[in-house]
Amino acid sequence: MNVSPIPDTNIYVLKIGGRQLDDAGFLERLGGAVRELHRAHKVVIVHGGGKAIQTWQERLGLEPRYVEGLRVTDEDSLDVAEAVLSGLINKRLVALLLNAGVPAVGLSGVDGGLVRVEKMWHPLGDLGRVGEVQEVAPRVIHTLLESGHVPVISPISIGSDGLTYNVNADHVAAAVAAALRAERLYFISDVPGVLVAGQPVRALTVLQADQWIEEAIITGGMIPKVRSAVAAVDAGVPQAIITNLDGVLKGEGTAVVSANF
Ligand SMILES: Nc1ncnc2c1ncn2[C@@H]1O[C@H](COP(=O)(O)OP(=O)(O)OP(=O)(O)O)[C@@H](O)[C@H]1O
Ligand SMILES: [Mg+2]
Repeated sequence: MNVSPIPDTNIYVLKIGGRQLDDAGFLERLGGAVRELHRAHKVVIVHGGGKAIQTWQERLGLEPRYVEGLRVTDEDSLDVAEAVLSGLINKRLVALLLNAGVPAVGLSGVDGGLVRVEKMWHPLGDLGRVGEVQEVAPRVIHTLLESGHVPVISPISIGSDGLTYNVNADHVAAAVAAALRAERLYFISDVPGVLVAGQPVRALTVLQADQWIEEAIITGGMIPKVRSAVAAVDAGVPQAIITNLDGVLKGEGTAVVSANF
């Protein structure tokens, strides 16, 4: 396989939603799409776990719970989340990409101390072993990019207590994109953008996002996604786009714009 370094230094971070990874049609097209992007850009992938974690929790008699779209993770649920995210999903995704000719390498936020977190305190309740990103040490990613690889990151990360934490993949993607000074951050989900009255909006400001969250037009998993997109743009990522795989290929979706817009 050809893993020669790519001259273009532009980094694209793709966050792939967990639910998309259960969709056979999506998986069929993903490898080719990443291969195309990787011709002109350095590509970093961060993935979620959505449905697969829930399926395994249910199989093991654990009840999935969420607070504002964030998964509540007790010790047993963390074992499941870590096994599914850093094991099953990460390795299946890497295998799929390799099979499509993409030189993928899987790792998690734990590996190389990539993503350091502290326990997240949420005003609406104890989330358990859920981490809030404190710092990203992107050295291991730069090393992989320089050798022409495509890093595939599971969002399980490491705390200052040496324990592993579940972290929302949108939060990890935003922090990684900022630390890498990425050119673009795509949130690839099962919706073509932030929908208002059924239609994706072209651009979203911070003020508008807060208002729509308050009015429950933006709910569930879209809340951490919109907030992460805003955080990435505020941290200097020029473009954060919420879209689906078609949107990436066609240049469509919702672009989140900074407070100074
Ligand atoms: N205004 C909105 N526009 C679009 N989607 C919305 C909106 N409000 C809530 N959602 C929900 O947000 C979901 C996307 O977030 P979700 O967390 O479920 O997926 P993901 O982040 O892609 O996957 P994962 O969390 O597994 O990484 C959509 O499927 C939709 O149900
Ligand atoms: Mg999500």
